[in-house]
Amino acid sequence: MKKILLLVIGLFFASSGIQEQEKIDQSTSKFMRRKLQYSRDVVEGLSVENFDQITKAAQNMMLMSHEADWKVVTTPQYLKASSDFRDTVARLRSAGKEKNLDGATLAYFEVTLNCVRCHKQLRQKPKKKRE
Ligand code: HEC
Repeated sequence: MKKILLLVIGLFFASSGIQEQEKIDQSTSKFMRRKLQYSRDVVEGLSVENFDQITKAAQNMMLMSHEADWKVVTTPQYLKASSDFRDTVARLRSAGKEKNLDGATLAYFEVTLNCVRCHKQLRQKPKKKRE
């Protein structure tokens, strides 16, 4: 009887563990989508020459890249991609502060390149496993 009870409790925790994981994934997804919003804020700022908006969006991207949710992956490649991303975001932020529209546009392009590179690298990982 005790064994069965333990089994039931075990199953309960195992299944709630799965639900917990889904919750975490959903919140990670929500967190990650914030980058998209900031990225749009930058484009808007560039388009209407609103340097405050550019600088603020870059600062927000920088801050979120230091949050725990960002560190969902801890491979050396991911850490390198994160640091490359931060470098370009720092350039974007500086260009925004200096009211340098061409510099900010170029930096935004570099930031975007880093978004794509990191995601590309994340997609490549499972493929390698299948080989
Ligand atoms: C250093 C790595 C890295 C960089 C740089 C990066 N991301 Fe992501 N991104 C992730 C990870 C990890 C996820 C979550 C796992 C996944 O969806 O593959 C993610 C997911 C996303 C998602 C999907 C969220 C969802 O589930 O709906 C969007 C949108 C996104 N990122 C936008 C961006 C944008 C825009 C940038 C650049 C401004 C960017 N990311 C830069 C790592 C990165």
